[in-house]
Amino acid sequence: MTPKIRVRTAERRDAAALALIDASWKREAVSPGLKPRTRKEFESTIGKDIVIVAEEGGVPVGYAVGEAKRASKKHFEIDQDTLHINDLGDNETYVDLDSLYVLRRYRKRSVGKAIMKELMKETGRRGIRQILLAADNKKNPEGLVNFYRGLGFKIVVTYMKRDVGRKTRRKGLSS
Ligand SMILES: CC(C)(COP(=O)(O)OP(=O)(O)OC[C@H]1O[C@@H](n2cnc3c(N)ncnc32)[C@H](O)[C@@H]1OP(=O)(O)O)[C@@H](O)C(=O)NCCC(=O)NCCS
Repeated sequence: MTPKIRVRTAERRDAAALALIDASWKREAVSPGLKPRTRKEFESTIGKDIVIVAEEGGVPVGYAVGEAKRASKKHFEIDQDTLHINDLGDNETYVDLDSLYVLRRYRKRSVGKAIMKELMKETGRRGIRQILLAADNKKNPEGLVNFYRGLGFKIVVTYMKRDVGRKTRRKGLSS
């Protein structure tokens, strides 16, 4: 029988296992800006942020980190960009979803969904009314949008790109 997945708030003792999970995330090379956290960094994150872990037989298989931040002058900061979104008050606290990762062999079994639901519950318990995230998966950005849409998230800003020109050598113009 497959052991059951359990979702809970992370504790300091999870830090080493979460650092191993981040190393897998880095190896998967889907999130270009990812800086894997060390065990020590996880220990301090667990002390101050919302950290949810999914475990199987006591071993973490996925996690999420949500950082409580303050909206300032109705602006949000995501990485280097300041986005203007006007539905939070100045100084109101919101949660910035910093990380979400499920080990590959545990995907498509509702583990990511269960982690996010627990993170949303915990955000609500803290009296915070909004979660903001910048989705970052270069292999399957549309899949990620579907995943978050299924959890009730809406797109507020979109980055798109289109390559123009060709890589092949230009042919000379014939007269
Ligand atoms: C994104 C991620 C956390 C999803 O975890 P998961 O455990 O596979 O997701 P779930 O099984 O809970 O999926 C929940 C729903 O989203 C859908 N979904 C999940 N991943 C999807 C994908 N890549 N494409 C389309 N739909 C997807 C599922 O089909 C499911 O739909 P349902 O509720 O109708 O059945 C996981 O794929 C992952 O860790 N990816 C690599 C890291 C990453 O991209 N993190 C996010 C950075 S912002």
